[in-house]
Amino acid sequence: MKAQPIIEFQNVNKVYDNGTVGLKAINLKVNPGEFLVVVGLSGAGKSTLMRTINQMHRPSSGKVLVDGVEVATLKGTALRELRRKVGMIFQNFNLVKRSSVEHNVLSGKISYYPTWKSILGLYSKADKRKAAQALDRVNLLEKIYMRADQLSGGQQQRVAIARTLMQDPKIILADEPIASLDPLTTTAVMNDLQKLNQEDGITVIVNLHSVPLALKYADRIVGMRAGQLVYDEPIDQVTEEDLNQIYQPM
Ligand SMILES: Nc1ncnc2c1ncn2[C@@H]1O[C@H](COP(=O)(O)OP(=O)(O)O)[C@@H](O)[C@H]1O
Ligand SMILES: [Mg+2]
Repeated sequence: MKAQPIIEFQNVNKVYDNGTVGLKAINLKVNPGEFLVVVGLSGAGKSTLMRTINQMHRPSSGKVLVDGVEVATLKGTALRELRRKVGMIFQNFNLVKRSSVEHNVLSGKISYYPTWKSILGLYSKADKRKAAQALDRVNLLEKIYMRADQLSGGQQQRVAIARTLMQDPKIILADEPIASLDPLTTTAVMNDLQKLNQEDGITVIVNLHSVPLALKYADRIVGMRAGQLVYDEPIDQVTEEDLNQIYQPM
């Protein structure tokens, strides 16, 4: 028997308030433990696709299911639990630049704490240990007391990855995580995502512009164009030619 998809799009459409079509009739099943790469030109709908998974955007019609539950029906505690399960990595890292690396990582725990505790920085010893372990996973333990903005871009992105580990995520969504990085640090970031996928079984979805990187890291590649899924193949079926097709301007 095939496992239930961890994420499923059922005929999902998204039209923004200004009339722009973000997603058009998306049907997609993501399997638990998959490393899925989404490729496509700027404006193709990659970010919109990702953001409907954790309810940063609501679909205009159709359903998005996570672990078999339609996310649009979730409210309050259940919505927070969904967001805990789904870690998010952004192109610009979204760190608090003037705070320490440790504090940034600990902030991944915030949803578990009453607000006054996180504001005062009253984290438990267990959480501090967990933060140190998370930083160790991304090989940045020695930077724990530095200010976030003293790190290189690649290191900051790896701090952001450590921050999501505080949530014990089942899914990590990474929206062009390497778009502002140089090639060397790009490899470190992609390798960290691969490690969490392979060692922890976390389902990873990455939006990428780079065809070679998609080929190197993905189990499966989907292509988007003008809000539609135009390509969906396991990695052993993908050719570079296919991918270059997706990048042809219309
Ligand atoms: N908040 C928004 N309001 C209106 N249109 C948007 C918004 N966000 C994205 N769009 C539009 O939706 C389409 C898909 O955008 P996006 O998902 O950001 O694509 P990608 O991530 O592939 O670059 C684009 O035409 C974009 O301009
Ligand atoms: Mg985008």
